[in-house]
Amino acid sequence: MRVLGIETSCDETAASVVALDGASAPEILSNVVLSQIEEHAAFGGVVPEIAARAHVEALDGIVEAALADSGVVLGDIDAIAATAGPGLVGGLIVGLMTAKAIAAAANKPLIAINHLEGHALTARLTDGLDFPYLLLLVSGGHTQIVAVRGVGDYQRWATTIDDALGEAFDKTAKMLGLPYPGGPNVEKAAASGNAARFAFPRPMKGSAQPDFSFSGLKTAVRQAATAIAPLSDQDVADICASFQAAVADALGDRVGRALNRFRQELPGKADPALVVAGGVAANRTIKATLEKLCVQAGFQFVAPPLKLCTDNAAMIAWAGIERLRAGMAEENAADFVPRSRWPLDSISAPMVGSGRRGAKA
Ligand code: KG4
Ligand code: ZN
Repeated sequence: MRVLGIETSCDETAASVVALDGASAPEILSNVVLSQIEEHAAFGGVVPEIAARAHVEALDGIVEAALADSGVVLGDIDAIAATAGPGLVGGLIVGLMTAKAIAAAANKPLIAINHLEGHALTARLTDGLDFPYLLLLVSGGHTQIVAVRGVGDYQRWATTIDDALGEAFDKTAKMLGLPYPGGPNVEKAAASGNAARFAFPRPMKGSAQPDFSFSGLKTAVRQAATAIAPLSDQDVADICASFQAAVADALGDRVGRALNRFRQELPGKADPALVVAGGVAANRTIKATLEKLCVQAGFQFVAPPLKLCTDNAAMIAWAGIERLRAGMAEENAADFVPRSRWPLDSISAPMVGSGRRGAKA
């Protein structure tokens, strides 16, 4: 099985070919990712219109490069898988329309993939993980804990009631005058800071409600920064370190609850695993906190290589293979319309603040 994947839901234009032959391990034959960070840096965040235009300009070349790198010609591809949501609708339209055109021209099936399903199934591509397992997705757009029970069988156990965690890092960086994207710069500054200087809140810690919240923490950071302005480099470092400590602590509390729930609800799993995905998973303080938590709870800690944790098309191609293999690709007709909002788990109640149009993801 060889599937061409296309990803354009946010600010990465990506294409990849993934192969699965019989019972052997899957193989990523190519994985091309073009980041638009430079296009958006001046604005301190992703500008949807700029993103969509950049996808239009780059995508055909990226697909060509992914095919060339893979050594597979289009005729030998079994299906085209493209991200159809959730995400910025301009980019989704570019990716899905391109995929439809390629599928029609080459007479291949098209598989519309939920971007979150791509993240959810990556650990099976990289680590051959068996179902069920627990996924913590922490990126610029999403903060979720999902019980991954099978292909197409996902239960969202927790989500953010306000900002995504990556967004909280980015906004904190912006407040402190650090460049975009904020996460890596906050982590860098935190390395020389005193994490005990500011007692920032640990949002939701101890709460019976399983969800996340980061906007109160962001406000506390703003108040602390305003109170001692102008900020020296040491002040910035101390705020970053204290912020990061608060985040890690709050995250550990939330994930700890989910590990317990997994043990109770899916007790048959002898060697349970927690998988992390998303750009924030690159953060060493957060990673160390989660790793420790897993050791204590008897969970395997799985962190796929960062390149496959952040947005990429190999995860989309792989989700296509999983769907083909499970006989679930035919649900995806070629007339699939991009969905800017597309919850992975349609049963979970929409979050507060998700508005009239319902849950985003
Ligand atoms: O998964 P990703 O590359 O893209 C999407 O959001 O889809 O995640 C990007 C997010 C950004 O908010 C970025 O600031 C954050 O991940 N990030 C980090 C770190 N590296 C990236 N946050 C904290 N620490 C890091 N080292
Ligand atoms: Zn993503």
